[in-house]
Order: sequence, then structure tokens, then C-alpha cells
Amino acid sequence: MPDTQQFDLIVIGGGPAGYGAAFYAASAGLQVALVERDIIGGTCLNRGCIPAKAFLETASVARHVQHAKDFGIEVTQTGIEFGVAQNRKQRIVDGLVKGLMGLTRAKKVTYLLGVGSLGANRTVTVTGAEGVQVLQGRYVILAAGSVPRTIPGFEVGGPIMTSDEILMLDTIPARMVVIGGGAIGCEFASAFSDLGSQVTILEGLPKVLPGLDTDLANVVVKSFGKKGIKILTGAKVNGHTPQPTGGTRVHVEGMEDIEVDAVVVSVGRRPFPDLLGLEGTQVQLTDRRFVQVDPYCRTGEAGVYAIGDLINTPQLAHVGYAEAVLAVKDLLGEDPKPIDYSRVPWAIYCHPEVAWAGPDEEQARAAGFDVVVAKHPFRANSRAQILGEIDGLVKVIAKKNADGTAGQILGVHMVGPWVTEQLSGGYLAVNWEATVAEVAEFIQPHPSLSELFGETVLSLTGRSFNG
Ligand code: NAI
Repeated sequence: MPDTQQFDLIVIGGGPAGYGAAFYAASAGLQVALVERDIIGGTCLNRGCIPAKAFLETASVARHVQHAKDFGIEVTQTGIEFGVAQNRKQRIVDGLVKGLMGLTRAKKVTYLLGVGSLGANRTVTVTGAEGVQVLQGRYVILAAGSVPRTIPGFEVGGPIMTSDEILMLDTIPARMVVIGGGAIGCEFASAFSDLGSQVTILEGLPKVLPGLDTDLANVVVKSFGKKGIKILTGAKVNGHTPQPTGGTRVHVEGMEDIEVDAVVVSVGRRPFPDLLGLEGTQVQLTDRRFVQVDPYCRTGEAGVYAIGDLINTPQLAHVGYAEAVLAVKDLLGEDPKPIDYSRVPWAIYCHPEVAWAGPDEEQARAAGFDVVVAKHPFRANSRAQILGEIDGLVKVIAKKNADGTAGQILGVHMVGPWVTEQLSGGYLAVNWEATVAEVAEFIQPHPSLSELFGETVLSLTGRSFNG
């Protein structure tokens, strides 16, 4: 049996939640080991957010080129070499991986490549190419993440892909079906449509982006329609029949088959506790195999925490970072405040982009609030006109005061150009529990897209410049 190495903290999983916890703890003076079985950066950096956004940027350049004439620029040559986009994406990913590895050294985090398995007394066995190592931690954080869900009849292989495979393509499929119109489905549909694919989204529920405020979802649906994306809701897929061409025919109940070159299955992600061991511990899994935690991310085993996609909280990298900070502060005895998951920022990078914080109109009303709502379209915003990106709106939901005026800002919901970058003002307003009157006093630069948030809030005071 190898010698047991001691650490203050052992983190299993090197995605955003895991490396976030390791680096944050190291910066607080703890001696940390970070165990990763594949590549540091996890899904977000290697198979998720970062590569997907790199392709969405290629799609954005393609749109600019298509509309260059409107700006007086004559483009003589068009055409997309997707292999170049793939290499560019990979260079970005590789550079960021290198940066994270550099940080492990700079922060003196012991990085171990291998599968980490938790046993009793916070013992972690790491099995890697170089053999087995045994570690023991005062604390352990589990951050093993999630993997794409699949559906029966659509096993991955050939034209059937999840986000993992589609991000590795080096050609653009001419015809594509996206099963599941959630965040991942809409991002891929948007990118590949802008790159020239003929895209159909098959969504099981009555609308795509089911978690989204209806006014925002309507803008996305309309914009997708303009691109030529076909959206079929209430669709029940019944398997597929591969074709000799390499493509396949997708069977949808009550509809004609759809022949395509690629199928993207984006029906959600499931937690991945599969390799964590956990024998001899009090770490419990829920019936959907999430690790069970309390509001401080503590599991049932003393000194063991779980964070990120492994627990049943919004599956967002930045939520993983927040949980990393929470868990480390808690184990340091700093009495942190639990995360209010109803107010985290959400961002979907399809075109047009979507971003929000706080409840939407329906959720606010369902929670019993009497609300006042203001909506302003980007169409009326000078910067949006200059960009040629006028689809979208800002919607602010505020509590109604007893005298009928608008009070505390509950939710800020945006769809349109660069709203993922514009949300921060709205996020702060929601989380600072600021009132309409307070935020209306702040000045936004002119001309800017962010003015629309300022104007929407101003209009809730009962006076406004526009509308
Ligand atoms: P999701 O849960 O957001 O959406 C899955 C969609 O598939 C839902 O609309 C669901 O109704 C539909 N669906 C499920 N089974 C189906 C079936 N058999 N046939 C047709 N439709 C079906 O999951 P998604 O998009 O895969 O994303 C996974 C996670 O990753 C989400 O929690 C999301 O928040 C996160 N994510 C966030 C992003 C962002 O913030 N930009 C980007 C990508 C993912």
C-alpha cells in the first residue's frame, strides 16, 4: 500500500467548480490537491461553454459578412472553412487549459491525473496511468460534474451526436435535427443555421426554452424563424433509420420523417457520480443521482462537500464557482450566506442572446407578488440601429407598492444584442434589492445598448424619455 499523503483539502474534479474551489482554497492558505481524470477545465472549457461560444462567434462573423453590403463593404469572397474554425476553437481551449495548469503551479496546488474515489475518513484513492496514490484530507470537495443525457433509440454514433461530438466536427452538416430546444439545443441550432445548415428543432414540450419568460421566448422564436430554423413543438421522437448516405431518417410521431446528416441530442445533462466510489461514507444520492447537500453544499459525510453539476442546482459554470467559494468559506468556518438560486444570472448565447436574473413575470406573480412590468424594444435604441441588431427587448419586473408605484426590482430579463454582457447592471439591481427609484438615478452612457435597461427602469417611475 502506498504512503498516504495528507492535505487540508482534496478536490475531485477539475471543472470550473473544482478548479475554482482548489484555487480559492489555495489563495486562502490551504494545502490543496486537485484530482482530475481527463483535462483540467472540465466540460465547460473542453466540451461545453467555451468551444460552443467559439463556434457561435464564427457564426457571428458569418452573419457580419452576409450583411457587410448594408454597411457599404463589398465582400468578394464568401465561404466557410469550418476546419479553420475548429482549429481556432481548439487553440483557444488549449491556451486556457495551459493557463489553468500554470495556475495550479503558481498556487502550489498538487495536481493529480487519475480517477479519484472517496472512501471512509475522507480518504481519496487516485488511480492513474502512474499507479495508485492514497490521499487523506481534512476536507474533501466532490465536483465530478455531469454528462449529456441521451434518449432510447438515439445512441451516440455516426450521425447521432451530443454536444460532446458536435463540438469536434470539422465540416458543417447540410441538414440537422436538434432534439431538445433548451439552452444547448438553441445555441447549436443558432450557430449551425447561421453557418448554412438547414436546422429543425424538435421540442417535446409546447414551447422551446420552456424556462424562459414568454415575451423573451417569443423574440427568439421569431428571430429563429427569420433564419429559417424550423421549430416543431410537442414533438415525440420515435427513433431513426440510418441511410446509406451516412445520414439518417428521424421518426417523429404523427409527422413525416425528417432526413438529415446530423442529429444533436440536447435533452439535458445528468450528474456524474459514477466513479466517485463513496463506499463506507454517508454521502447520499437522490433518486436522480445528484449528490444530496444542505444549503452550504455539505453532504451527509462530515467534512465532505459537493458542488457544481453534481448537485441539483442550476447547471451553470458560474454557479459552480459560487458554490466553490461557499464551500471553502464554510469549511474555513467563515459563516457564509447560502446562495439564492432564484437570483443567479442566466445567459444563453444563441442569436439573439438571452440573459436574465430574478423571476420572470409569471414566476413573480405565482410567488404572490403584485407587480409592475415595463418592456422596451431594442428597435428604439440608437446603438442597436447602428449595429443593425434591432431584434430584442429589455423587460423589468418590479414589486408594486401600496400606492401603485413601482418599488423593488425583482427581475431583469433581456433578449437582444450582447445582452449576456449587459445583464450585470440588472443582476446587481436584483441582488442588491434595489428599487426602481434608486436605479433610475444612475446614468448610462449614450449611445449604448445598456441605455435600454436605464430607460426601462426610468419608465417605471411613471416618467420617461421614450415610450
Ligand atoms: P435543458 O434542460 O435546458 O433543455 C432540454 C430540453 O429538451 C428541454 O426543453 C426539454 O423539454 C427537451 N426534451 C427533453 N427530452 C426530450 C425529448 N425526448 N424530445 C424532445 N425534447 C426533449 O438541457 P440542455 O439544453 O441540454 O442543457 C443542459 C444544461 O446545461 C442546462 O441546465 C443548461 O442550463 C446548461 N447550459 C447552459 C448554457 C448557458 O447558460 N449558456 C448553455 C448550455 C447549457
